[in-house]
Amino acid sequence: MSYSAAVLTVSDRSYKKIREDLSGKTLVNLLKNDGFNVTYDIVPDESKMIKNKLKFFCKKKITLILTTGGTGLAVRDVTTEATLDISEKNVYGLSEYLRIQSMKLTPFACLSRGVSVIRDHSLIINFPGSVNAVNQYYDFLKPVLIHAIKTLLGENTGH
Ligand code: MTE
Repeated sequence: MSYSAAVLTVSDRSYKKIREDLSGKTLVNLLKNDGFNVTYDIVPDESKMIKNKLKFFCKKKITLILTTGGTGLAVRDVTTEATLDISEKNVYGLSEYLRIQSMKLTPFACLSRGVSVIRDHSLIINFPGSVNAVNQYYDFLKPVLIHAIKTLLGENTGH
């Protein structure tokens, strides 16, 4: 079964085409390789635009939404707050786990404030903005991802 996914890049510079969006493209490829049916979009670091796009994806019943960028400490890093604003449930453990695994690779991983949340039937996970971080997060996420999706969609009937 092929699940739907959306990648949302949050970056002022990539939105203005000053910098190529390599992390968003990396995520799209990773998801496609794993059989997801992927939608992609990009917004600047503007809370309202991030929230509108996330709500739009949820309304379209996209199962998995991965954001990349805007999770750090800079003034314009608002992806986390925008995600929490439109959240219905917080999946604390998922982002805790991604951060803990990442901190074994680099102490800088503690500087990402990303969260994982549920809205309607969508799971939204904030990834940091670098290509390195995106690859690492995806590797860590993979073993639990399909189980998480099946549980969210009520497809885990065995227990
Ligand atoms: N997590 C992993 N796995 N690998 C990384 O290289 N970089 C960190 C952190 N998380 C990193 C990581 C750095 S340097 C920053 S500043 C924060 O993510 C926030 O990144 P963002 O503002 O692009 O979202």
